[in-house]
Amino acid sequence: MPLPGTASCRLFGARFEMPQTWLIVGASRGIGFEFTKQLLARGDRVLAATGSSLSRHALGTWSDIVAAGSGRLQQFRCDMLREDTIDGMVDDLRACGVHHIDHVVLNAGVLKYPNRATDMSYADFALHLHTNTIGPVICAQRLLKSMISLGFITFISSDSGSTQRFLEMEDGFAAYSASKAALNQSLRHMAAELKRKGDDTVILALHPGEVKTDLANLNLEWEVEGQMMPEESVASCIKIIENRNQDDSGTFWTWENKRYPW
Ligand SMILES: NC(=O)c1ccc[n+]([C@@H]2O[C@H](COP(=O)([O-])OP(=O)(O)OC[C@H]3O[C@@H](n4cnc5c(N)ncnc54)[C@H](OP(=O)(O)O)[C@@H]3O)[C@@H](O)[C@H]2O)c1
Repeated sequence: MPLPGTASCRLFGARFEMPQTWLIVGASRGIGFEFTKQLLARGDRVLAATGSSLSRHALGTWSDIVAAGSGRLQQFRCDMLREDTIDGMVDDLRACGVHHIDHVVLNAGVLKYPNRATDMSYADFALHLHTNTIGPVICAQRLLKSMISLGFITFISSDSGSTQRFLEMEDGFAAYSASKAALNQSLRHMAAELKRKGDDTVILALHPGEVKTDLANLNLEWEVEGQMMPEESVASCIKIIENRNQDDSGTFWTWENKRYPW
C-alpha cells in the first residue's frame, strides 16, 4: 500500500513512481535551490517559495530551471519574517488549485555570524528565532490548517540544534543553535499533536550536513570537516525523506541516513 503522500502504480509487474508535488520554502539559493533543481530534473512538480524577490539572485540560473521545468515549477512568495506572506502563500497555493502536496520542505534559514550569547543584540537573537523557528513552524501550521492535504513536512534543522550532542566548539553560534533547538522541540510537539488527532502527516527534522553555501561561508576558528557541495547533500536528503514512513514522524535524521540525538 502506498505511504501517505506517495503514489505508485504497477504496469506489467513493474513499479513506476508517479511524479510527486514538492513545496520548497526558501528556494532561492543554496540547499533550497538545489532541491528545486534536482526535483525538476527528475520530473517532479515543484512549488518554490522565496522570501524576497528573485531579482537580487542569479536570475539567469532561475530562468534556466524555469525553462527546464517545462511548466512543472510554480513560484510563490513566503517571507519567514512576515506572517501575512505565510498566509498569502497558502491562499495562493489554493487559488492555483493545489489540493495535495506530497512533501513540504521548510528550508529557509539564517545564520548571522557571530551570535555569541555574551554579545548578541536583542535584534539578532530575534532574527534567528523568527526566521529559523517561528516562521517555519507557523508556516507548517497554516498549511496543516488549510484544505491542502499533506504527506510529509520536513524541517531543515541542524546538528547545532542538538542539546544532547552539544557542540561546544561552535563559538558564535548561540542564537543559531538556540533557534534550531527550539525548532526541534516545536516540531516534536507538532508530530505528537498530529498523532493524537489522527492526522497522517509525517513530521521530520533533517540535518543536511556541512554544505558549501552562503550561510556556511564563514571565517571560523575551527576546521569544518566533511564539507560538501549542495548537489551531494540534497541528493541524499531527497532519498532520506522519501524512505521515511508514518512510524518516523517526530524523528531527527542526518543526510547520511542516521538518526540524530535531539
Ligand atoms: N549550509 C550548511 O552547512 C547547513 C548546515 C546545517 C543546516 N543548514 C540549514 O539549511 C537551510 C538552508 O541553508 P543554506 O545553507 O542553503 O543557506 P543559504 O544559501 O544562505 O540559503 C538560505 C535560504 O533561506 C532563505 N531565507 C533566509 N531568510 C528568509 C526569510 N526571512 N524568508 C524566507 N526565506 C528566507 C534565503 O532566501 P533569500 O535568498 O531571500 O535570502 C535562502 O533561500 C537553513 O535552514 C540552514 O540552517 C545548513
